[in-house]
Amino acid sequence: MQTKQRVLTGITTTGVPHLGNYLGALKPAIAASQSDQYDGFYFLADYHALIKCQDPQVLHRSTQEIAAIWLALGLNTDKVTFYRQSDIVEIPQLCWLLNCMTAKGLMNRSHAYKAAIDDNLQQGDHDQGISMGLFSYPILMAADILLFNAHYIPVGKDQIQHIEMCRDIAARFNKVYQPLFNLPQAMVAHGEPKILSGLDGRKMSKSYGNIIPLFAPSDQLRKLINQITTNSLKPGQPKDPDTCTLFEIYNAFATSTAVEQMRQRYANGIGWGQMKQELFEYLDTYLSPARQRFEHIIQDPQYIETQLQQGAIKARQYSQPFMAQLRAAVGITALDKTLATPREKNVVKEAKSGNENSSILAGRQKAIAIAHQREAEQMAQVQAELDQLLAAIKNASDPQAAYAAQIQKLQQAITYATNKQSKLLRKKLQLLQAVVL
Ligand code: TRP
Repeated sequence: MQTKQRVLTGITTTGVPHLGNYLGALKPAIAASQSDQYDGFYFLADYHALIKCQDPQVLHRSTQEIAAIWLALGLNTDKVTFYRQSDIVEIPQLCWLLNCMTAKGLMNRSHAYKAAIDDNLQQGDHDQGISMGLFSYPILMAADILLFNAHYIPVGKDQIQHIEMCRDIAARFNKVYQPLFNLPQAMVAHGEPKILSGLDGRKMSKSYGNIIPLFAPSDQLRKLINQITTNSLKPGQPKDPDTCTLFEIYNAFATSTAVEQMRQRYANGIGWGQMKQELFEYLDTYLSPARQRFEHIIQDPQYIETQLQQGAIKARQYSQPFMAQLRAAVGITALDKTLATPREKNVVKEAKSGNENSSILAGRQKAIAIAHQREAEQMAQVQAELDQLLAAIKNASDPQAAYAAQIQKLQQAITYATNKQSKLLRKKLQLLQAVVL
């Protein structure tokens, strides 16, 4: 029987983790891996990495490095299950079942996809450079989570929407087939969200090119800290710690006593050169033991590989039988086997008496009449809006351009609309396109 609550999180194996990733994701995950409260599942999302990275050398190297980072930071692989996504063959299998449960419209609303389209809108072709992998990214993520029936998913704020989509997909499966999935919850760090600033004062992010890699060698670490933007106050002039990136990073790593002392030194006018030196020394000392372990582990890919393979064996003890159960639930199983109980809905339907059936029929007819009436009202509304639009187009200084702009606007609105809205919008577009100016 499953007793402990399951915590599951993945990290995409592209690029170098930086100090911000460490504070936001790695550090809390390592702490949770040491606790007895949860059953932890931690994995390297290498299939997800393919969406962003098509350089085999880089992908392979990143996967080694990120695995080594988890191990160097002290992930307790006896307590948690630490594995590589691509070793769990059931993940892509489940991913397909979930693809068939996912409305395309749900994916249209994904932030990551919409952001990609927004970038493209200026250039004319919406879908330029967007792969199906990027588009259906949240479905693969849902498969990662649902295959282990995880309860809590520690993620950054940017991933919350993906967890909500995962719940939607799971709920649909539960309804259509059998209630086999938990609905997972995002677990976002308590208190203030720790979004660390980078070298230039903006959020530390690979896409801004302002990061400090977690295991940068000492000399590189010093160089990067020296690049952190400060203001032009001179040594001796009091400084505000709360608007200073150097202090922010120091604060995120140092003990509270050290932080209080540093706050005082800001009031006393510590010079920027001095502060950069102090921050460097603090970080270098803090990170050095794990960095040394990292240097050691990365030299031993066989050790990393063994750890991951052992993790995969542990993970598949759960995923293999569960996937068989899921396949059977959709009707895919050995042909000489009888499927588990049919859906309750069907049983209920067959059991109705003649009388009950006729009252069901009457109810259905009433519902259809109401639906027709609603549709007529909605069409009248669409027609009224269209008339207004046409009047505006005719009054525009360049009616042809205004007409084209309205068509484009509607097309865009349809991309982002919910199913219900989209039906009406499409009708409106159809009517508008039929107009001859
Ligand atoms: N999408 C996550 C990220 O980019 C990585 C990820 C993949 C993940 N699958 C997951 C996180 C499942 C949590 C659960 O950060």
